[in-house]
Amino acid sequence: LSKIEIKLSDIPEGKNMTFKWRGKPLFVRHRTEKEISTEAAVNLSELRDPEHDKDRATNPRWVIVLGVCTHLGCVPIANAGDFGGYYCPCHGSHYDASGRIRKGPAPLNLEVPYYEFPDDDTVIVG
Ligand code: FES
Repeated sequence: LSKIEIKLSDIPEGKNMTFKWRGKPLFVRHRTEKEISTEAAVNLSELRDPEHDKDRATNPRWVIVLGVCTHLGCVPIANAGDFGGYYCPCHGSHYDASGRIRKGPAPLNLEVPYYEFPDDDTVIVG
């Protein structure tokens, strides 16, 4: 199916859950206050693929990205790596808690799919 509907109250704060969407892993991360403030404060000049957190996470509590490393497509591990977001073990790419590439060979941030929040407890991706 082209769209997936996810109930947000099933995902506790601080957790990243993986869903399958269009044949790929989809990460939905319920960020902590600390993660939200850390990512909002990142200076774009530090970034290889400069994107503001607010342009990736329209509701800062939720990060929704494809779980596909932009290097060669492995599935990163959540809550790991030097920036606390995601770590790809295949060749050592480190992503932050916005899914932005911070270190290692991957060239681009984790892709943000189209999504919307029809109500406070639901996201529809696709
Ligand atoms: Fe992720 Fe190479 S596929 S670092």
